[in-house]
Amino acid sequence: MTAPAREPWREPPIGLLAELTHRCPLACPYCSNPLELTRRERELSTASWERVLEEAAELGVLQLHLSGGEPTLRGDLEAIVARARALELYSNLITAGVGVSERRLEALAAAGLDHVQLSVQDVDPAGCDRIGGFQGSLARKLAFARAVRRLGLPLTLNAVVHRHNLDRLERFVELALELGADRLEVAHVQYYGWALANRAALMPTRAQLDRSVEIVKAARARLGDRLLIDFVVPDYYATHPKPCASGWGRAVIVVGPDGRVLPCHAAHVIPGLVFPNVEEKPLRWIWQESPAFQRFRGLDWMREPCRSCARREIDFGGCRCQAMQLLGDPEATDPACTLSPEHARIMALAEAEAAAPPPAFRYRRLEPVPA
Ligand code: SF4
Ligand code: FES
Repeated sequence: MTAPAREPWREPPIGLLAELTHRCPLACPYCSNPLELTRRERELSTASWERVLEEAAELGVLQLHLSGGEPTLRGDLEAIVARARALELYSNLITAGVGVSERRLEALAAAGLDHVQLSVQDVDPAGCDRIGGFQGSLARKLAFARAVRRLGLPLTLNAVVHRHNLDRLERFVELALELGADRLEVAHVQYYGWALANRAALMPTRAQLDRSVEIVKAARARLGDRLLIDFVVPDYYATHPKPCASGWGRAVIVVGPDGRVLPCHAAHVIPGLVFPNVEEKPLRWIWQESPAFQRFRGLDWMREPCRSCARREIDFGGCRCQAMQLLGDPEATDPACTLSPEHARIMALAEAEAAAPPPAFRYRRLEPVPA
């Protein structure tokens, strides 16, 4: 796949998603990390991450999302946060919150951490353990959330929802209020990568989806500014796709644990793209000029029906990775769109999976690397 010759892209990314490590104590069946995980010995050094942040700030990035895997497994997280603060990057820690002591959290806050996003797999303790594959997880998460609030840090709860926890969505809202969270992200699973391997186990029914829409609507009306609720519906039941990653190479730049840079966290599923590495190329060149970032920017790559569609600059044709994974063609219209000729077939598949008894979850873990 060759990239068309283009002018360098002049707009800076708003956010940098730093996937510091793929190591994680949890094993969620919808994990967004790639099928092939990066092992510890291939992770970037502290000095490399600090240089990446300098290049990001110079490029115009405003927000730094510290993610993984579990980013707190990096012993140098405080140094990375401190560097972000010195560069005036807004830092957001995205964590499972199961192995973070209050003392560690204090150290991160002292280093300048601005915000915490905590994943909660379920409000039911047994469900939380089963989904994340980690015993005693909910109690640890709640203790962590309370420590976050005691330190005065703003807190967002991330609730990834699917057929096994959707019936407790109202309790997620109550939990967010009880913990003093500012924001609740209710995100239906997006079925790429490992989540696609678990799709039949996770796919909700249409009735569950409709009920979740009602619950979110009622909660927003009732709570107003007391709790901001973001809501992402499952692509398979959507009318139009979402503007994935706010459009390819438009707002987000993702740096993986080994330094490879991607336009979205799943872009490795698209064959033929070569993802440059921060150890070899400047972040500015990667963002503005690299063929991987230019490949699906703008509208030139689009085919019909997207090319002449009124929504083409709203959703940018949806998700390239989903088009690749479901249709084997990254230039195809995202099948989440009702205008895609494949929409009905994909929808029927989702409904059949949701109606059948769910298979067991498939878990995976990155094996511990010997010290
Ligand atoms: Fe979006 Fe393409 Fe569907 Fe139009 S046809 S709504 S641009 S995915
Ligand atoms: Fe890659 Fe949607 S996840 S474009």
